[in-house]
This record gives sequence, C-alpha cells and structure tokens, in this order.
Amino acid sequence: MTEGIKLPLPMKKGFAATDRVDAWWKGPTAMVAYLGFMVAYATWRGMMESDFWYFEEFGRSAGHQTMAIESQGSHVLSPLFSPLIIPGEGTMGSLVPMWLAWMSPAMFILIFPAGFRATCYYYRKAYYRAFMQQPTGCAVSKPWDEYSGETGLLLVQNLHRYFMYVMLIYLPILSWDFWLSVNFHEGDVDAYGISFGSICLLVNVLMLAGYTFGCHAFRHVIGGGSNNWTGSPIGRIKYRLWKLSTSLNEKHKEWALYSLFWVMFTDFYIYACTDPMFGWTDIILWGGL
Ligand code: FES
Repeated sequence: MTEGIKLPLPMKKGFAATDRVDAWWKGPTAMVAYLGFMVAYATWRGMMESDFWYFEEFGRSAGHQTMAIESQGSHVLSPLFSPLIIPGEGTMGSLVPMWLAWMSPAMFILIFPAGFRATCYYYRKAYYRAFMQQPTGCAVSKPWDEYSGETGLLLVQNLHRYFMYVMLIYLPILSWDFWLSVNFHEGDVDAYGISFGSICLLVNVLMLAGYTFGCHAFRHVIGGGSNNWTGSPIGRIKYRLWKLSTSLNEKHKEWALYSLFWVMFTDFYIYACTDPMFGWTDIILWGGL
C-alpha cells in the first residue's frame, strides 16, 4: 500500500510546525493549566499543616487545623491527609519518630496517590505531551529529535503496578473515613447524619474506585495469566471482573481527570469549612446531633 509514497513522510521542521489544520494545541495547553494547577494546589495544601518555613503561619501550626471538619460532632477528614499520621499520636503516628513532627501528615502519605497518578499510562501520555514536548503532538514537529523511550530515570514508571497495589489498600481506608463522617458524637450522644462533606467523601471513594479498577495494571492482574475463562467457576469470575475493568478502562481518561478534580474539590471544601478566613460551615443535609 505504500507503493509510490516516499517514507519517511516529509514533516515541517521547527517547534510546533505542522501541516495539521485542526486545533491540536488546545488539549496539551489545557492539560498544562489543569495539571499545573492541581499539582500546585496539592503541594500547597500538603505542606500547609507542616511546622516549618512559610507554612507555620497556616493550618495546625497557626492554632487551627484544616485537615478535618470536627465542628458539629462529625469527623470529615480530607482525603489529602488520609490516613492521618500525626507523629506521637494514634497507632500509626506512634511509629513515626518525634523528630519528624515538623512534617505535615500529608507528607507521609501523598507519595502513594501522587506516584500512582504520575506513573499512570494516561497521565504519562498527557504530561509527556503537555510539559515535555515528547511528542508535541501527532504529526507536529518537536523541539528536539532524540527519542529514547522510557529508559534511564523513566524506568521508575515500571513501579506503576506497585502503586496500584497500595491504592487498593487506600480504598477501604477512604471508605472508613466516609463511615466516620456519618457518625456524629458529642459527649455521650451518638447520632447519624449526612453532611455535604460526607457526600464529598463518598463520591471521592466512588471516583477513585472507578479510576483504580479501570487501571491498565489492575485489568492485567485480573484478566492476565488465564487461557480459559469458561472452564471453571474461578475462570468465569475472572472473566466478569475483567469485563467490568475493561468497561471502566475504556473511560480511563475521564476517570483520571474527574477523580483528580474531586479529590481537590473535597479537600478545598473541608479547608474552607475549617479555616476562619472563609467562614464556611459544613452543611448538614440529614440527621446529625
Ligand atoms: S493506568 Fe492509569 S491508573 Fe493505572
């Protein structure tokens, strides 16, 4: 079929030079703005509860914590700080040496969700294009010719499967946080209730589950290594799970982008309800004390 066509096809030279007439640049540009904002926000919030440098003016260090809404007898913990590790406090906190008490609780745990997303196949495509111009776009000239694939330092991307295993532990932890958020306590009084904050936590778990169960590595773990999906009950269960994972995987980009937004939105809502600067209060939709 390539008869008469000279390969390689001629391409314009020079950064972003192309014969394409569509708005190919819109996607990568939007991605720079979206991912740039999300990373900046998560970094800011992740450090806010720490006890050093600029951040000691905010959060826990300034006399009020912004990690969880506790004001109305409920406990709505931001997913950016879950599981909550405060050196010297609680089961996990007691495992952390006290000389690390200057660290924000988020600093102990964010490496896992951040690593999971940073090594995700979809995000790799997105940020290679948006931030590294590797490539700039299909049939669009990039600033440099070399391409060495995911070698050298980028071999770290192979850790994706292991980050995925850790995220499978996160889902029950975040579900537990939702359960705590609907349990209201004050003194001897216990009650159930649902607030806007608890709905945020629930949606967050569901979105992260959709993202995690549609992960390419998860799909492989579920469906790989099997030559017979109908000959045994285990095989049939694997097939069903693989089908479910595949249907989520087909929209993996959407799960990736929307779940990221929802984590940050949930955190922002909790932040705004805990920092007096905003003056917000969590809205109780049903029950409560
Ligand atoms: S490929 Fe995206 S989370 Fe695994």
